[in-house]
Amino acid sequence: MDAQLTNAAVLERIHEQRLIEGVEHMSPAYLEGMKRILTVSADTELVSAPAYLHAARSAPNINTFGSAIAIIQDELGHAHIAYRLLRDLGVDTEELIYRREPLKWKYPYAFDVPLDSWYELIVANAFYDRAGYILLSDVYNSTTFGPWKRALIKVDKEETFHLRHGEQWMRKLAPVTAEHETLQNAINWMFLLTVEWFGLPDDLKKHTEQLDFGFKGKSNDQLRQQWMSTAVPFCRELGFTVPAHYDDATKLWVVDCTFPAAFDEHEKRWLLEEGQISWDEVMKRWKKRGPKNAEFVETLQRGNKGLARLLGEEVA
Ligand SMILES: [Fe+2]
Ligand SMILES: [Fe+2]
Repeated sequence: MDAQLTNAAVLERIHEQRLIEGVEHMSPAYLEGMKRILTVSADTELVSAPAYLHAARSAPNINTFGSAIAIIQDELGHAHIAYRLLRDLGVDTEELIYRREPLKWKYPYAFDVPLDSWYELIVANAFYDRAGYILLSDVYNSTTFGPWKRALIKVDKEETFHLRHGEQWMRKLAPVTAEHETLQNAINWMFLLTVEWFGLPDDLKKHTEQLDFGFKGKSNDQLRQQWMSTAVPFCRELGFTVPAHYDDATKLWVVDCTFPAAFDEHEKRWLLEEGQISWDEVMKRWKKRGPKNAEFVETLQRGNKGLARLLGEEVA
């Protein structure tokens, strides 16, 4: 069934504090916007699985490998929920997951840069899962799409576990000098990638329907502030250096270094010495995708494509 209602009718329902329960309550613009935000969420959850699996291979022992695998299993569950919601909105999710070109996936660029050690995995839990938790808590609190809101109760609890996993490990390793240095090196490249995670600054953002229709409650910049308000004090408390501080005058968290900046994705290093770049240039890097994009998507699609070939279907 196609969405038929006018935007005005959808907004009237929302103003009456009634949730949108399915396509029958949506206008075409609401439907398209909801598909867009759900695809980003689903892709992010799904690609985190191969990204974390790549790092889990460096787990120090079988117990820690087990906790990494438990997190990956949660992420697959989160992805399943979001793709299932997309299917209910009429999206061909088989095509979306198993046939889509890697370059067309919509997850944050950070996941294209490999996590090559246990240290990088736990910083990812403390940074990336914190970003996921903040974004999804906002959707949970504010979204006008009922099925998504209800599904996020479970997702929120599990994201808290991922975040705590990262924090506990960082807390445990931070006092040991050699470990401290390795973690600091991970923070050095991962911090700004997570600041970027929240997308374009509000004044450059194109899709305003996310807030107009109440898909979520807070803007990119508000969510980025929220992330820094817990990530920065946490890192400071453990003695790590991060390029951000709280500005009393504006009551905002401010990035201290050159930002946005160019990133050497193979060296995993910010080219701060080259000076500030525009968000257009950042968008170009995001669109081009990073080093592990094709490999991670291939990992996700391989089994399904193999099965299709066995069944004699044509596979690109
Ligand atoms: Fe997740
Ligand atoms: Fe997570």
